[in-house]
Amino acid sequence: MKTKLTALLVGACIGTTALGAELLVGTDAGFAPFEFKDEKTNEIVGFDMDLIKAIAAVNGDTVKIQNMQFAGLIPAIQGNMIDVAAAGMTITPARQKQVHFTDSYYEVGLVLAVMNKDADKYKTLNDLENKTICAQIGTTGSMLAGKVKGAKVTNYDQIGEAFMDMKMGGCQAVLNDKTVTTYYLSKKGDGSMTVLPHLYEPSQNGFAVSKRNPELLKKLNHGLKVIKENGTYDKIYNKWFAEKK
Ligand code: ARG
Repeated sequence: MKTKLTALLVGACIGTTALGAELLVGTDAGFAPFEFKDEKTNEIVGFDMDLIKAIAAVNGDTVKIQNMQFAGLIPAIQGNMIDVAAAGMTITPARQKQVHFTDSYYEVGLVLAVMNKDADKYKTLNDLENKTICAQIGTTGSMLAGKVKGAKVTNYDQIGEAFMDMKMGGCQAVLNDKTVTTYYLSKKGDGSMTVLPHLYEPSQNGFAVSKRNPELLKKLNHGLKVIKENGTYDKIYNKWFAEKK
């Protein structure tokens, strides 16, 4: 976290206490609508990006986004390379041993997507025993896929590649966060895939920070609380999930 010297100096000169930090926020921008590259501007946008900026603003902080591999985010927090991970990250007991999570900012769950032509054959995870399941490396979807008896898990750096592989016949299903899969199929799909109704592992998304930085955790939870109370959260939510409300 870099304290802005200019802010400090200006603050000192004009006699205010304005003092903001620049938070280095890591993400994996292949996960629309949570974080993805705007095709026109190439800027990283999405629900998580708007939220973390609004939360930082409550505290007088600014945000600098750093794009990286999803599986590299927790090591980057632990190695002090980033301050926060804002990446649609699900709060799990295993991850809680490694990092601190803020209060929940979104409810998630996993769904299977299959090819339309297979929708009668594969209705639940049990039907995928001894089959191949595509997922994004390091995600809860990948981990759950790994628990299916005899199933082979093909992991990709980005979830978009998993859908392309399924289309080519490389796997029988994609296991991933419901919101992202639904969004992907509606925006990028050609109608050849379908989302199965069962929701696995309903859980919560949080922003992750280092266990060595409890002050930052407190600040982020405070900011989140404030934007939930003052309507900013709802505004951002509606911007990205309007159809669902
Ligand atoms: N919610 C899932 C998890 O925490 C997937 C998150 C993937 N996020 C991303 N930006 N690619 O494992």
